[in-house]
Amino acid sequence: MNFAIVGPGAIGSLWASSLSHAGHNINLWSRQTDNQLTIQCDNHLPLTLPNNDHQALKNSDVVLVTLKAPFVLSGLKSLVEHIHSDAIIVLMHNGMGTAEPVSSLFPNNPLLLATTTHGAYRPTPQHVLHTGKGNTQLGATNSLGHQCEFIVDVLNNALPTVEWHSNIQQALWNKLAINCAINPLTAINNVNNGTLSQQAYQYDLQQIINEVVEVMHAEAIAVEMQALTKTIQHVIEATAANYSSMQQDIAHRRTSEIDFITGYLIARAKHHQIDVSFNQSLYNSIKQIEQSW
Ligand code: PAF
Repeated sequence: MNFAIVGPGAIGSLWASSLSHAGHNINLWSRQTDNQLTIQCDNHLPLTLPNNDHQALKNSDVVLVTLKAPFVLSGLKSLVEHIHSDAIIVLMHNGMGTAEPVSSLFPNNPLLLATTTHGAYRPTPQHVLHTGKGNTQLGATNSLGHQCEFIVDVLNNALPTVEWHSNIQQALWNKLAINCAINPLTAINNVNNGTLSQQAYQYDLQQIINEVVEVMHAEAIAVEMQALTKTIQHVIEATAANYSSMQQDIAHRRTSEIDFITGYLIARAKHHQIDVSFNQSLYNSIKQIEQSW
């Protein structure tokens, strides 16, 4: 199949490499102006792939968007006329809130949402390291998307494991809850994920989780407080040495995903008239840091 990877950062490059090694045609769409880019994943042979090629994009059967949430809408707006209306669009990023605007932008395309736990790190623009094997959950967000379950086999063959979710909102909310708990706290305190297992952070974590659970229940998402607390503790331990994406963004003075993580939670809480003042104060702190630059 013909795949376009829009935003080939660490995760996008990992998919580009895996799909190419599985025999698919890959084209990239990135901020870089070169018409070809090289990607080498781990010790595989380096791949040279077309970049910003309008014709290749137009011929793409699948457009896998691995841009960070804040850049999804602006990135896709510039590509509307170059993406075929039959192309399956897959959004894969931390956070929520892009599906509706993207769906309005591409009303005739099948639209899928994905969340992944694969770890990838790009030490240089050409190199990507697959630092942690994980899984990817995929599901539809419009009726055309519901006809695209077959894509799971294609993706699973390239970078296992990939599972189809008939209710992808559940999987996205589970990931959102993890990100609400870990990302702002690690960014504000400038610490790695493992530091959050210290006693000093337990009160804050519980406040975040309490509010998240209330909003998830209002959204009709199944969640149990103790199970979620356990899952978050498990992720903190399993990724103890890692710095969260938000910690890295803030440390490098890059726009963070706060509007699509805690910001999305706050928007849904407002809709249901739920008080999420603890998460609101974390949101304000991140915004204050961003505005101080
Ligand atoms: O955003 C991140 O960094 C990751 O989603 C997670 C799970 C918090 C681990 O660092």
